[in-house]
Amino acid sequence: METRILVPTDENIRLAASTIQSSDIVAFPTETVYGLGASIFDEQAIQKIYTVKGRPSDNPLISHISSLSQVDLIAEKIPSVFYDLANVFFPGPLTLVVSKKDSVPGIASANLSTIGIRMPNHPVALRLIDAVGSPLVAPSANVSGKPSPTTAEHVLTDLEGKISIILDGGPCSVGIESTVLDLTVKPFVILRPGHITKRQLEEAIKEPILFSTVNNGEGIKAPGMKYRHYAPEASIYIVSSIMEFDQQMKTISMNNTFVLTNIHISPTYEPSQILPLKEETLFAAFRRADKEHIQNIVIFLDEDTKQNMGLLNRIEKARQK
Ligand code: TXA
Ligand code: MG
Repeated sequence: METRILVPTDENIRLAASTIQSSDIVAFPTETVYGLGASIFDEQAIQKIYTVKGRPSDNPLISHISSLSQVDLIAEKIPSVFYDLANVFFPGPLTLVVSKKDSVPGIASANLSTIGIRMPNHPVALRLIDAVGSPLVAPSANVSGKPSPTTAEHVLTDLEGKISIILDGGPCSVGIESTVLDLTVKPFVILRPGHITKRQLEEAIKEPILFSTVNNGEGIKAPGMKYRHYAPEASIYIVSSIMEFDQQMKTISMNNTFVLTNIHISPTYEPSQILPLKEETLFAAFRRADKEHIQNIVIFLDEDTKQNMGLLNRIEKARQK
């Protein structure tokens, strides 16, 4: 199969929509990462998503909507807090887990009774959902075990020959996957941290929220969080002071080393690359490190970055080999 990267003209969006309507799947940009979409009511196409990604069948997909009027089509017993949060954060990098409607095929959310819903803040995603005329289920458009793609090129690297269309919306502005908040338990639980923070959510609803402890065997968790995630080939070293940094750099060769930092480091060091440490480019840096056979990635966690749970979570996962 030929895989084409298409600019998102009206014509190409119509082509992508008709591809989805004929039971196929299409990669499209969102503000977080690229998604691999199928119509939520099309079991056959949803099965293709699992096959193409090599995704475990017990890992549910997120439903992407373009208008709040679509919520009633896919969910039921929707608590008012859903709309309180939607009014503040939709469209945006937030997924809300609520009760699934029976008319939605089980495969859309791995036979759970719940469904994750988000409205992406990207014009191409919204236009595509509108053109299809129904919500799209979409996981990140990477092969399972690779970092989520933040450019059309990343999608091509992973899925060339396996899908026909990648809509190109340029680099994703957020760069890490959405915050996932479970509204079916009390207190509400963040299943996956992201760009929208616990504090922002708590401020919006004026009640405390918990972080889930991954795989603690109790309560509800995001099934996706239990799988081994992507780890770059390089060894990852975390430092959080100039002193630690200096010590670390003495133990590794400067060749084949990336340093990810927001703190200015001494010009005496000349690693292969010094890159900023930020959500937008973290996954791209990991992909690049692998491509260039980088052996060491030194990550400088300064005080501000330590507060960023979304970024820390992705770094932690990348360290687990
Ligand atoms: O930003 C994003 O969320 C991106 C873009 C494409 O929208 N999507 C994404 O999808 O990251 P995926 O499939 O790679 O990750 C979905 C996460 C998984 O950890 C999954 O277990 C969790 O959301 N999830 C989805 N539906 C759920 C549900 N009903 N209950 C609990 N967790 C759910
Ligand atoms: Mg994913």
